[in-house]
Amino acid sequence: MRKKLAAGNWKMNGTSAALEELSALAALHPAPGVEVLICPPATLLSRAADCRGPIAIGAQECHPENSGAHTGDLSAAMLADAGASHVIVGHSERRTDHGETDALIQAKASAATASGLIAVICIGETLAERESGATNTVLATQLLGSVPDDATPTTTVIAYEPVWAIGTGVTPTLDQITETHGFIRATLASRFGTEAAEGFRLLYGGSVKPGNATDIFALPNVDGALVGGASLKAQDFSAIITALEAAT
Ligand code: PGA
Repeated sequence: MRKKLAAGNWKMNGTSAALEELSALAALHPAPGVEVLICPPATLLSRAADCRGPIAIGAQECHPENSGAHTGDLSAAMLADAGASHVIVGHSERRTDHGETDALIQAKASAATASGLIAVICIGETLAERESGATNTVLATQLLGSVPDDATPTTTVIAYEPVWAIGTGVTPTLDQITETHGFIRATLASRFGTEAAEGFRLLYGGSVKPGNATDIFALPNVDGALVGGASLKAQDFSAIITALEAAT
């Protein structure tokens, strides 16, 4: 049985005042029936860990090495030391803004696991790729290249985030999400075996809001969501958590 996960990615948003939203969320869900994760900017990690209540705290990115001459970067060990239990790797904004490759993302995911963090590995096609019929090829390549060979359902969560749905208010149709998550599950099965593949949690991400969460969470192979904009306000994210709880 896969435990559902509601993950919020604050991206480059939030200073100290934002911690009030985290405290409010913790108060709204004192014992959530699903796992809840908030990934604030790294500057807030340790303070978020202090006021998180039952909510897990994650980072948005890590360096593949443990330490060394990498000005401005943070290692997985440092993030764990600051109170993170998860880290997002391979978000499309990092793939685009920082030119991150599948091989680099795989190395980051391995570093995360080595430091005891759960890696939330993001994959997703652009609009041009979907329109040209290349979605499955792109996703299979990203899955093969970004997910470490020794990944397990305990160490790794997969987030499917169509690039064209992130921050746009546009989402794929429910049929498209169903088809794509089914494809991802099947691709994991061909690499890791059916039993392991059944254990991996597959999150959908891209313009998840209180208004569409219930429909998305009712779909097969959708084990939760990775939420950007709607995770910034406790009320909005709470409504998404409630929808996920209702779907379990
Ligand atoms: P969005 O972002 O919910 O604001 O579309 C999703 C994400 O980038 O994880």
